[in-house]
Amino acid sequence: MHVYCTDLEGTTHELLATEGWSVMEIIREGGLPILAQCGGSCACATCHVYVDPSWKAKLPEPNEEEVAMLDGTFEVTADSRLACQLFFTPALDGLRIALAKGSV
Ligand code: FES
Repeated sequence: MHVYCTDLEGTTHELLATEGWSVMEIIREGGLPILAQCGGSCACATCHVYVDPSWKAKLPEPNEEEVAMLDGTFEVTADSRLACQLFFTPALDGLRIALAKGSV
């Protein structure tokens, strides 16, 4: 199973994905330079990613903590999510995301 992550230079990387891991952990394990300063506690927003619109409906809605953290983040769009709050399941095999500027 894989996640496809586009970096700030526009290169898309195929990352090995493990069920139960957060997308932030998958990005980090894949060797991409995601900051994720709080380690996945939903307290920093330095794991900000943009989810490909075709995948948005397959993701659970963000909870209040995630929404509040994104509210204080730069360059947020309707596709913004925190990668540490997205947990990989087989249904997300092929998920496409892009790193946001503040996350690297
Ligand atoms: S790693 Fe800090 S909010 Fe995701």
